[in-house]
Amino acid sequence: MSSRFSVVKLGPPIEVFALNKAYLDDKYEKKVNLSVGAYRTDDGVPWVLPVVRKMEKNMACDETLNHEYLPVLGLDALSSAATKMLLGPESSALSEGRTIGVQTLSGTGALRLGAEFLARHLNYRTFYYSIPTWENHKLVFLNAGFNDPREYRYWDPKNRNIDFEGLIEDLKAAPEDSVIILHACAHNPTGSDPTKEQWMKIADVMEEKKLFPFFDSAYQGFASGDLEKDAWAVRYFVSRGFEMCCAQSFAKNFGLYNERVGNLALVLKDSQSLPQVKSQLTLTVRGMYSNPPNHGGRIVAAVLNNQELYGEWTDCVRVMANRILSMRSGLKERLQRLGTPGSWEHITEQIGMFSFTGLTPRQVEHLVNEYHIYLLKSGRINMCGLTTKNIDYVATAIHETVLKFPE
Ligand code: LMR
Repeated sequence: MSSRFSVVKLGPPIEVFALNKAYLDDKYEKKVNLSVGAYRTDDGVPWVLPVVRKMEKNMACDETLNHEYLPVLGLDALSSAATKMLLGPESSALSEGRTIGVQTLSGTGALRLGAEFLARHLNYRTFYYSIPTWENHKLVFLNAGFNDPREYRYWDPKNRNIDFEGLIEDLKAAPEDSVIILHACAHNPTGSDPTKEQWMKIADVMEEKKLFPFFDSAYQGFASGDLEKDAWAVRYFVSRGFEMCCAQSFAKNFGLYNERVGNLALVLKDSQSLPQVKSQLTLTVRGMYSNPPNHGGRIVAAVLNNQELYGEWTDCVRVMANRILSMRSGLKERLQRLGTPGSWEHITEQIGMFSFTGLTPRQVEHLVNEYHIYLLKSGRINMCGLTTKNIDYVATAIHETVLKFPE
């Protein structure tokens, strides 16, 4: 008798993790990892933020801590501080008590919980994501109960900029009550955010068409180096009176990738439905994973709630943002000096962790196979994978590849 499992079909690999593994398995000395979005120091190694290490040492010695379950919705000290960091301490939504924060399994968990709540309790079925977007948005929303995935135009590859007309056209054509996934800042993968004026126009259309904003905030601090500036779009939508969800991740800005620390922030029009919404979120979490883990959440909560630690942390965020900026200008300068065909201005115009290089799939394949430089097929590179030691090698490789395989 054949196995009951023989009916299962092989699923496609997850590109970003497959590339990361291929890089790790590669024995070539000069290999470079520009794939997964994770910070690296100038020595090309992961960085445990000093403030995080300090907290971990304190926690290890703190005999009052134990391993009891957290509440289903997580640590209140985390979710309220995270929501405040997103909306700003002056937010009227906070002072009017019409927000909810839930500690989640990083940003992905927040997306999943928010989407499941919207599908189950508000009956939303249609969602829109930008083309391109983070590859997981679609899967998360489908798994959460949405069944009508749709795309809105975002990128104009010719001008290497936002296709704003296309974006507005697609939002205008969206049916009422569609959920629109918006990247709060440092759009992944393009590194190009709407201007303030463009955000205002997006809000106008969404208000007029009764579309529901679901922000994904995975890079607060990485776009400008400033947490306040990076929250502008979300705060603007709140000031316009939108109800919304926002998924926050602390993977990148705290370097807590594998600890899965996130927050789902909900903003409601008034506080009346708050207890009901909270009770249903509680049941959704209970039915999925019961309650979140403690370690990373406790670190983030401690840092966000202590002025001195907060200062140490924002210094770290600036260190990361600045290193990325210097790699951006370094790569652009080198390509320009080499006379690599095409314009490379977009490398410094884009912001956040990624650059959407414009390299073609053929060029990407060549970089991976010939130079052992790992990047996504879309041409996205993680700027943090560049260091002062490998940047010449990468620039030369891109130069030779573009000459060999012109667009
Ligand atoms: C990325 O975009 O590389 C990261 O967010 C990792 C992931 O989960 O895809």
